[in-house]
Amino acid sequence: MDSTPRDPAFYVERLKGLLQSSSRAVAFTGAGVSEESGIPTFRGKGGLWDRYPPSLYANPAGLMLLFLVRPSWMAAFFSDILDSLLRAKPNPCHRVIAQWEEEGFIKAVITQNVDDLHSTAGSVNVYELHGNAFRVRCVRCGDREKLARERLLETAKKLNEAPQSRRSLLRLFFDFGGSCRACGGRRRPDVVLFGEGLPQEEWDRALRLATEADLFMVIGTSSLVYPAALLPRIAAESDARIVEINPEPTPVSSLAALRIPFPAGKFFSLFDVS
Ligand code: APR
Repeated sequence: MDSTPRDPAFYVERLKGLLQSSSRAVAFTGAGVSEESGIPTFRGKGGLWDRYPPSLYANPAGLMLLFLVRPSWMAAFFSDILDSLLRAKPNPCHRVIAQWEEEGFIKAVITQNVDDLHSTAGSVNVYELHGNAFRVRCVRCGDREKLARERLLETAKKLNEAPQSRRSLLRLFFDFGGSCRACGGRRRPDVVLFGEGLPQEEWDRALRLATEADLFMVIGTSSLVYPAALLPRIAAESDARIVEINPEPTPVSSLAALRIPFPAGKFFSLFDVS
């Protein structure tokens, strides 16, 4: 018989206790925390990779092939992603994490998400391991710049407007990135694709946070994608207590001192004061 308590209040009290007895708590998040904000997760039923195979859509070579042979598929993919990113608003999970940072209960949030929702909710110490879709990066000097929301809206509108040819798509990408303000180089969206390295500074900081944490909350991630998936294991080996918040079990579940089997937004709404 399953002896897992079903009453969310049980988990609220346990998590409060763990937070109060910790001094170096860290949140580590994945796509699941934004699912209730309307952004689809990657894996599982209805996930992005269900509709768009990652072998084509999530790596530079696949995207180049798509661009050459099926530019309209590529346009549909980008349009789909941009639309959901632009519509999304922080949910109680993002808001409570930001509030806990402000109140001194957690040190930082390490995220694999590129949706900017932790910062929008007010988190300050945010380490984005896979970049940020609202930012561009110079391919020559690495300078990063946050884009005005209007620029993304304009791009989404153009993507939705007309069937895209290779030529119009190329023009759209160049207009979107623009030129680097530091060196004049070409810019691309500042997101990490499969096969690309993680941003060094964010990764170094994340490793340090995981090593020093005494409480490591793993929220809404399948913990399948490396190197990010190493972090909960490193935290556990460094004697942090692991808390997992995810309706589905993952490879991290066996490490967890507390497993909270609820959708993150719904669970955190029990703490939300706004
Ligand atoms: N609340 C909490 N967890 C949820 C919710 C929810 N409302 N909905 C789904 N989940 C869980 C799923 O059970 C799953 O374990 O979120 C997890 C989402 O897993 P993935 O789709 O694999 O997302 P993520 O772990 O963030 O993926 C890591 O993979 O393709 C890449 O670069 C992409 O950053 C991404 C990386």
